[in-house]
Amino acid sequence: MTARRPGGYPGAAITGWGIALPDKIVTNADFAARLDTSDDWIVERTGIKERRFGGTTRALAVEAARAALARSGHEAREIDLLVLSTTTPDQAVPAASSAVHADLGCSGAAFDLNAACAGFVYSLVTALSMLGMGYKRALVIGSDTLSRITDQTDRATAVLFADGAGAIVLEARPDRELLLSYDLGLDGSLASILCCDHGGYITMEGREVFRRAVRASVESAQKVMADAGVKAADIALYVPHQANLRIIDAAVQRLGIDADRTSIVLDHTGNTSSASMAIALNEAAELGRLKDGDIVLLSGFGAGMTWASAVLRWGS
Ligand code: COA
Repeated sequence: MTARRPGGYPGAAITGWGIALPDKIVTNADFAARLDTSDDWIVERTGIKERRFGGTTRALAVEAARAALARSGHEAREIDLLVLSTTTPDQAVPAASSAVHADLGCSGAAFDLNAACAGFVYSLVTALSMLGMGYKRALVIGSDTLSRITDQTDRATAVLFADGAGAIVLEARPDRELLLSYDLGLDGSLASILCCDHGGYITMEGREVFRRAVRASVESAQKVMADAGVKAADIALYVPHQANLRIIDAAVQRLGIDADRTSIVLDHTGNTSSASMAIALNEAAELGRLKDGDIVLLSGFGAGMTWASAVLRWGS
């Protein structure tokens, strides 16, 4: 049984991270060639320059997980908990995590978690709480293939959503304080502003989602910063959900966090939903932007309407 830190959350460390992006790059020019849009419009209104399309939720999850396992130095059989955050499982039944668990050769438990674009933080907090119940080592994966549920003839959504996966290995470490605070929430009365029926395509009230997203992510981030007792100046890295650069800019301004302490990947990934914060965290780690002891703020929002934030103390 993992020891619980007195008065705190289960001790843990992130010991591996990895991502997977499909090979096919879709540029703004590709959209402009077939839709009434332009590179200028998309860059100015969203910050997205290109994104990746292709693959399956399962295959992307497996590839990202293998990279995270390699970084952590652990074998899949040493994983006793797999939490797969996805909004786009390849099949209705069984859960996508079932195939991912089998492909990797993990032990123990596995399940899917759907909290849309806030799902990676929901999954991280869920996995961490289960480490406090005795699990030793978790894979937390965010994997989505939103291009499959996006109407590629609808310029308002087609340019935004894309495919990708990100994963971390989370290990019980009673001596390490990883999570300083968290906030998980949703307002189900806003479900209709961003939704997708079985077999259908995403429909979205863009302006309303934008307005609610800024408010939800700022309030949630402010809550976790207050709960952790950290100020904007203490945040070494802000990892926001990668939906729209203007949403990130608005949050950065309101939170008072310097833009150069923010991880941005959406210019080359688009909105990869559950994968987005995992990919942004991975890229910062790969670029050497994180050192032991750094305070990291993760904050996202998504369909539901969900939101989730966490303050972490980085240390692998
Ligand atoms: N190219 C050119 N014009 C486009 C376009 C595109 N790709 N997409 C929409 N437009 C048009 C609209 O049709 C509208 O035209 P109209 O005035 O003739 O009706 C015009 O641009 C303005 O639309 P509006 O929705 O007000 O633009 P916006 O500045 O709000 O930007 C979004 C649209 C979708 C980029 C923006 O609202 C947004 O990002 N919202 C949040 C979406 C999001 O993050 N979703 C995921 C949440 S996890």
